[in-house]
Amino acid sequence: MPTPLIAGNWKMNGSRALAEEFGRAFRDASLPEGVAVALMVPFPCLEAAGRAFEGGPLALGAQTLSQHPSGAFTGEVSGEMLRECGARMVLVGHSERRSLFGEDDAAVLARVQAALDAGLTPVLCLGETLEERDAGRTEAVVLGQLEAVFDGLDAAQRGQLVLAYEPVWAIGTGRTATPEQAQAVHGAIRTCLARYDAGLAAAMQVLYGGSMKADNAAELLVQPDIDGGLVGGASLKIDEFLAICQSAG
Ligand code: PGA
Repeated sequence: MPTPLIAGNWKMNGSRALAEEFGRAFRDASLPEGVAVALMVPFPCLEAAGRAFEGGPLALGAQTLSQHPSGAFTGEVSGEMLRECGARMVLVGHSERRSLFGEDDAAVLARVQAALDAGLTPVLCLGETLEERDAGRTEAVVLGQLEAVFDGLDAAQRGQLVLAYEPVWAIGTGRTATPEQAQAVHGAIRTCLARYDAGLAAAMQVLYGGSMKADNAAELLVQPDIDGGLVGGASLKIDEFLAICQSAG
């Protein structure tokens, strides 16, 4: 069984002060043994969050990175810069990056490679739109996004990723996938991973994301192929996020 991981994604929300509050609250909290927790904060909060999380259970992550290591790319941030700020993981291919910022599968693969080159753990996000689900294309879309990245990596690289299945229609909508819907896709992801390597399939953390809250986390996290959560809105409230972390134990 992979270690459960609950990762918060603040998106363009939060502040350095909120990161400091989270750092204090989590240092004092008793979390279930063996549950890993992380927060993906906006770039300007990284350093303050890194200091605030020191000595506590929260791992630090960012929400995107450039595919380039350095150069004339005004406004971009490299993986190495994120590491220097204390980040250990980074989201790649979040549906908001894909739909609002035009990141296609090739761009997602390039960013995964850039993250690995910088020594960051890429958390690769996958998910179908409602239109794709209604057309019966959920597995084709999700596994297609997965293969577009995994086919471009070698075996050692594949083993360093974390995956997050996030149905686009469940993100920020309050409409969570049912545990059965989520498990069905997670099971398909696991089967697809086993085609690369059985050990990889058994060890890979596959998170669920999309309107995960304190009151629905337990029934999702108990599913056999769901190894944790990627939590957006509910990761901005300390009590709510802590309660989700508690239910992963
Ligand atoms: P949500 O966002 O929990 O607010 O639906 C999840 C995500 O986008 O990672």
